[in-house]
Amino acid sequence: MEAYAHGRHRDAIAAHGLEIRTLPVDSGGASVSELGDADAALLTPAHQFPFGSTLAPERRSLAVEWALDRDRLLIEDDYDGEFRYDRRPVGAMQALAPERVVYAGTASKTLVPGLRLGWLVLPANLVEEVVTVKARSDWHTSSLEQLTLAEFIASGDYDRHVRRSRLAYRRRRDRLAAALGEDVRIAGTAAGLHALLELRAGRSEANVIARAAERGLALEGLGAYRTGAHRHGPALVVGYATPPEHAFTAALARLKAALAD
Ligand SMILES: Cc1ncc(COP(=O)(O)O)c(C=O)c1O
Repeated sequence: MEAYAHGRHRDAIAAHGLEIRTLPVDSGGASVSELGDADAALLTPAHQFPFGSTLAPERRSLAVEWALDRDRLLIEDDYDGEFRYDRRPVGAMQALAPERVVYAGTASKTLVPGLRLGWLVLPANLVEEVVTVKARSDWHTSSLEQLTLAEFIASGDYDRHVRRSRLAYRRRRDRLAAALGEDVRIAGTAAGLHALLELRAGRSEANVIARAAERGLALEGLGAYRTGAHRHGPALVVGYATPPEHAFTAALARLKAALAD
């Protein structure tokens, strides 16, 4: 796993009794040269969560080579790949080694997390086992939601919705960047629905989070996502898709005030 990662993934992996090893992350994504003799790797190559970087091209090749040479499994969690603002989205690693990479996508960012719809593109030899495990866990996902999404996609409306949303979220990200002072840097790729705001060394994440909470703003610190010993400086993980449009300007002002305290 990446040293900063989604807590639910960490919990799910640990609950299966697997030993977790972590890869440091930096502006080039996860340090995949450290994969070594792991059995499998879970990565967020398009947009590292929550760090925000994109896996560097040479690291993508290295990770795919690792999976192919050692016959290991790579899980590519592409949770927000539809939203890239500075260029076209990068291609999936799955296409480079379809028999060694599991691709995971979701409607949670493009539509809504409460829908609970996602998809896996699996190596052929894993399909049967995954279908069995899924059936044991909840029999099947609601047909009504699946059929509605299928119609939404087939009609072209899903694509139109994603394009419209991409523009709206890009504007929000730009407004967030413009609202921040000199002391705070947005790290990572211009993509997704969250940004990592790096704080000056020595500033306390907990302090800024508390100041923000006093103003009715819920923020998270990077520290909450740490899975290994590797430690990055203080930073905030700010989701800019959540506030409704009419509340966004006020939310930015509150964030700015919390940071200025
Ligand atoms: C890193 C990461 N992976 C995956 C997901 C999507 O999970 P799900 O499709 O279960 O909502 C998220 C959503 O927040 C995420 O942050």
